[in-house]
Amino acid sequence: MKITVITGSPRKNGTSNYMADEFIRGAKESGHEVYRFDSARADVKHCLGCNACGMGTKPCIHKDDFVELSEHLLNSDIIAFVTPMYYFGMSSTLKKVIDRFYSIDPQLKEKNNKGILISVQHASADAVKEPINAHYQAILSWLNMENAGIINAIGIESVEHMKQTPYPKQAYELGKNL
Ligand SMILES: Cc1cc2nc3c(=O)[nH]c(=O)nc-3n(C[C@H](O)[C@H](O)[C@H](O)COP(=O)(O)O)c2cc1C
Repeated sequence: MKITVITGSPRKNGTSNYMADEFIRGAKESGHEVYRFDSARADVKHCLGCNACGMGTKPCIHKDDFVELSEHLLNSDIIAFVTPMYYFGMSSTLKKVIDRFYSIDPQLKEKNNKGILISVQHASADAVKEPINAHYQAILSWLNMENAGIINAIGIESVEHMKQTPYPKQAYELGKNL
């Protein structure tokens, strides 16, 4: 299968990128083709809400890294979102990328991709994960996508701490068993 992984952390060696690494390692071991897009280092401009794209009937006016990403999105079987939790939601760089889905919205809906969410949060309270999961599920529902897995790594202090938890193995196995 073809998998597009969109990461959301500006911290290259941070916790969510570690989870992305493990997920990708598992997926590649099982022969899947992975395209990784690090939103925090990409040149992706904000959606201007100008509607020049007609919500998917014409190209977006921005010519940036989203052009290449959109080709991968429309050729993928799975889109995996891997993000730190920022104020109960995904990071703004990841959200900025998702807002640009507007220009390929009908094509994405027709594609019937599967989705994956991997989030990392500092809070250990289980309920803190609910808003990000609800947002993810709403996006999936809108885009006619099916959920293929959610991992919420909670109570995470650092990468070293994360390595002591079951979460990296869960990410690896999620990729491996797709
Ligand atoms: C701007 C910002 C907002 C955050 N908001 C939350 C939050 O709402 N809930 C939470 O549990 N942790 C929150 N955190 C902590 C991060 O989610 C946590 O440290 C995560 O492991 C960072 O991921 P990274 O190492 O991949 O960058 C926040 C951190 C930052 C920098």
